[in-house]
Amino acid sequence: DAGHYDTGGYEHYLLKEISEQPETVARTLRGRLDDRFHIAHLGGLNLTPHETRAFRRVKIIGCGSAYYSGQIGAQLIEELARIPADAEPASEFRYRNPVVEHDTLYVAISQSGETYDTLAAVQELKRKGGRVLGIVNTVGSAIARECDGGVYLHAGPEVSVASTKAFTSTAVAFGLLALHFGRVHDLSPADGRRICEGLRRLPGQIAEILEKEQEIAELARKYAGHPSMMFVGRVRGYPVAREGAQKLKEISYVHAEAYPASELKHGPLALIGPDMPTVAIVPDDELLDKNLTTLGEIRARGGQVLMVGHRVAEPKLVDDCIVVPKNEVELDPILLTIPLQIFAYHAAVALGRDVDKPRNLAKSVTVE
Ligand code: AGP
Repeated sequence: DAGHYDTGGYEHYLLKEISEQPETVARTLRGRLDDRFHIAHLGGLNLTPHETRAFRRVKIIGCGSAYYSGQIGAQLIEELARIPADAEPASEFRYRNPVVEHDTLYVAISQSGETYDTLAAVQELKRKGGRVLGIVNTVGSAIARECDGGVYLHAGPEVSVASTKAFTSTAVAFGLLALHFGRVHDLSPADGRRICEGLRRLPGQIAEILEKEQEIAELARKYAGHPSMMFVGRVRGYPVAREGAQKLKEISYVHAEAYPASELKHGPLALIGPDMPTVAIVPDDELLDKNLTTLGEIRARGGQVLMVGHRVAEPKLVDDCIVVPKNEVELDPILLTIPLQIFAYHAAVALGRDVDKPRNLAKSVTVE
């Protein structure tokens, strides 16, 4: 129940929560960046620098969108701290009798802090002596209480079933965590400064993306009539593609698949044609040329392409482009996700769906 928290003049909670993101991201960052030493202050971790250095691996768990934000987090930690990191659905993790290692740091993600599969995974980790941090939005929730320490998002209550501001704030919290781990390891002060400054630019850049709402709404109306859509991205773009597909399917009921762009030719390219447009996440990073080649391959099969990236591509490669502001390459996935939230929202509205309470889904899944 939303209680005293209302839609604040927006038509849906979802649009309100999407629109709040400049402030919610600012809240996740508040008081946590140190511009003198280019580090992050995360007192809630309860880890000394000595303990932090002893971890050889980071394993991130969560369900659904929390898991996808964990994939962004794993990439940030690997890139900035050079600690091997990966993410796995908490529901899978808990059922496969995982080997719990003492030099692995476990990170559990949950907006609600009440997701049963994630809680059960944390409890199993604790039984086996694992060290678990929580990245949680709801203060004092079951998962937050079970963890050894963590980072609260401070994103405020999220009412709409589809997660948006919590997803973004989780990715931002991983930016802070990766900066912190990086500076305890070998990230230089100069790179620390680059990331601090990049994190500080995020709220303003999110506001710039929100100004494109009408342009994105029009594209959503153009594409929403298709029965199916493909979402692709490479490395940093891949979790963004997964989250974009997740948002679209859960609130608009349009079938959406997400694949690493590099995997298309190993199977799903067979699906591409006039009936299945592709949303391609194409940041300006070292994989730009590879991604542009993929767009050509999709177009050659008669597939329409909506590119989300940092520039407008040649008309022979794309039908439409959504251009977002550029940040540091490591932080770009956070911004690239925002237009996909707006796209899914307007696709759902165009199709007359129950945007805030999609069929068959609950806001937090507290049962097995
Ligand atoms: C997100 O849009 C979904 N509704 C869902 O995947 C959600 O992220 C998942 O159930 C995890 O919830 P939590 O973050 O509250 O644990």
